[in-house]
Amino acid sequence: MTTGHSSHTEVVREQFRIQSAQFEEQVGGGYNRDIPGWILDNLALTGNESALDVATGTGIMARDLAPRVAHVTGIDVTPEMLAQARRIASDAGIANIAFDDGDAAALPYPDNQFDLVISRIAVHHFANPEVELGEMRRVCQPEGRVVIVDITAADDAALAEAHNRLERLRDPSHTTACSVAGLTALAERCALKVVHTGETDAVRDLDEWLDLTAAPASVRQTVTAAFEAELAGGTVTGMQAFREAGRLKFVHHWAVLVCELTGE
Ligand SMILES: C[S@@+](CC[C@H](N)C(=O)[O-])C[C@H]1O[C@@H](n2cnc3c(N)ncnc32)[C@H](O)[C@@H]1O
Repeated sequence: MTTGHSSHTEVVREQFRIQSAQFEEQVGGGYNRDIPGWILDNLALTGNESALDVATGTGIMARDLAPRVAHVTGIDVTPEMLAQARRIASDAGIANIAFDDGDAAALPYPDNQFDLVISRIAVHHFANPEVELGEMRRVCQPEGRVVIVDITAADDAALAEAHNRLERLRDPSHTTACSVAGLTALAERCALKVVHTGETDAVRDLDEWLDLTAAPASVRQTVTAAFEAELAGGTVTGMQAFREAGRLKFVHHWAVLVCELTGE
């Protein structure tokens, strides 16, 4: 079921049609090989879980979960990302994995279906995260866990807005990266109690990051100029810009929030 044909859904589909060309190479294998192990370390899996990976993309999180849970389903709204997810999992001979086409805002599953419902680096693309997170909670069984993994913005509102503005310029499907406190408050509004939080940093290369979205020259110039201005002592980007071996880089701060369900 692919519902929610909002204009934002179409922006997401178009953006990830573009990103699907380099997504596995950059995000699956490239810029921070420590992230998958760090996420799994935060999950304390039993091995018996029936898991759902919401906004699975090319299935990176789902494939990481597959050997550690009973079964994992990935769901996504972008056909080109899902096609890769299915092909890569099939080529790898993973038997306990399945992929569905669907919108996180209207998950095509009954209530209480899964033991673990996770979403990695996707909440900041959701049109109305309370709706999508509410759906994740609905399909999670009462004793299960909902896990949010996302890049976050600074606590300072001005820094967070500067950061989000550059993210939106580079990727129009970016809605808002929240602070860790903001994600925690979002979870609480969705009747979720955060029982564990993990945080880590990942360094990204600015040009590679812009390549992934095939950012037009005007966007590249604007974002690069913002980084150069910060390094010259001007307005901060909220992205901790720095230069290393002649290349512009920045820091993405990641958080994992493990949540239990509370009474509504
Ligand atoms: C940055 S990618 C992350 C993919 C994957 N979770 C990972 O960690 O590699 C974001 C993904 O979210 C998907 N997405 C965004 N909004 C969605 C929605 N409302 N329902 C389903 N998928 C969505 C996009 O299609 C894209 O594949």
